[in-house]
Amino acid sequence: MMADPTPAPLALENVQGDILGGGLPKKAETYYFFRVENAEVKAFRSRLAELVPLITTSADVAKHRVKISEHKRNTANEGRWLRMSGVNLAFSQKGLKQLEFQVDDKDKINDAAFEGGMINDTTLNDQPNNWLPEFRQDVHGLIVVTGDSQGTINARLLEIQTIFKNTIHEVKRADGHVRPGEEDGHEHFGYLGGVSQPAILGVDDNVSPGQELVRQGIILLGREGDTVARPSWALDGSFLTFRYLSQRVPEFQRFVDSKNPRDAPKDFLGARLVGRWKSDDEKLGTDPTRNDNFRYDPLSQERCPFAAHTRKTNPRSDLPSTEIHRILRRGIPFGPEVTEEERQKGTIHDRGLLFKAYQSNNINGFQFIQSSWANNTNFPFLDTTVAPPFPPKPGFTKEQGPGFDPIIGQALNGGDRDIILTKAGDPTGNLDLPVEWVVAKGGEYFFSPSIPALKSRFASTGSSSRSEA
Ligand code: HEM
Repeated sequence: MMADPTPAPLALENVQGDILGGGLPKKAETYYFFRVENAEVKAFRSRLAELVPLITTSADVAKHRVKISEHKRNTANEGRWLRMSGVNLAFSQKGLKQLEFQVDDKDKINDAAFEGGMINDTTLNDQPNNWLPEFRQDVHGLIVVTGDSQGTINARLLEIQTIFKNTIHEVKRADGHVRPGEEDGHEHFGYLGGVSQPAILGVDDNVSPGQELVRQGIILLGREGDTVARPSWALDGSFLTFRYLSQRVPEFQRFVDSKNPRDAPKDFLGARLVGRWKSDDEKLGTDPTRNDNFRYDPLSQERCPFAAHTRKTNPRSDLPSTEIHRILRRGIPFGPEVTEEERQKGTIHDRGLLFKAYQSNNINGFQFIQSSWANNTNFPFLDTTVAPPFPPKPGFTKEQGPGFDPIIGQALNGGDRDIILTKAGDPTGNLDLPVEWVVAKGGEYFFSPSIPALKSRFASTGSSSRSEA
């Protein structure tokens, strides 16, 4: 059955909690990737009915956030975190098939990236040899558990495993946590993360200055702005894109220190590669009324290189509109802090980002950002301030654009990367990027179904397993 063209207005209790309203609150997060064997499909589906009441919805998250604010205001708590956890669930394409959620063509979800699986996605320029063996196996589902501490998460995960008993088998478990002390909220290179997110029309009341407001269907399937034909059970679900991204922190730091122009402030080069300052105006970085309130000068990279990570991944005024390419990012760092030995010798311990993003369309969202922007040396090079057909930006030609996204851009077969980062067309501004500082070691495209779909279509209560959501 195809999606209703005029569904009832969005209700937050129907949407999984990691998607809207800032996502599941967390100090730590476990990603539990699992497989279900053929013989256990039926049992899994009946146990799923027991799990559904434990799933945190976007309505729960709104309540959790009020409780967290009250807890923080109460000085008696002395900075201790409120004990709480969240649970969400998503399935890969292989999972939808294995679990018989998709039975025929009517159930086709129509997203080529999701349907093909990330391991087969050659547009990303991942190097297969870098992928961890676990991510090369079939994964059917992903359980996301968040909490105030790993202890809270472990207890929750045990509860979930007890519900599913032996119907799920662990393929990989990845534990993430915020960085300690003042680094809380910063990714491993040292930059504040999760700052610029789109606000959702009719969902987010407090839109910050400069924050882009997008239609619900940019994130949720079947809502206005999602233009693809979907089965009815896909309504209010969202594609969860997961990437296991290792970061070579000492190597990055050594590079930006050694190449920083002599007369420039510390970390100037790092700021130009990322598109944000690391720490000099921390107040601005954490102030939602100011930290997203800027536009790029479409004709100049004087203040921010065209190839800087944030400009590549959200080019703002470089394009007439970026709405369909916006995603909600919900990642968390993993791995230990850099040790003194690593500062001297280079990376020894695995650390990085458990990247997670939600969107209604991978082809326009994550996949597009990675392949058509970050990996595309010619983007952004068009001057869109004039009437089409757009000419190249000043100093660029059709053959030579600004280069790779220095943070996540990947060349075909791990080839060389460079960026033109000072003045457009100034060859002295070229910078060869010696190694990839971010290494993709695995990932998968998942679908995070709505609560009604989980309840009345995916979970079976014993009688009929095929009732429509
Ligand atoms: C280890 C890998 C990565 C690191 C270290 C990283 C770091 C950052 C930082 C520091 C920011 C600026 C603060 C913020 O707005 O959150 C940012 C923004 C952003 N990143 Fe990443 N990122 C990584 C991976 C990715 C990936 C894989 C994508 C998507 C393909 C992505 C897409 C974005 C987007 C869309 C923004 C917002 C830009 C804006 O609106 O100004 N990032 N990232």
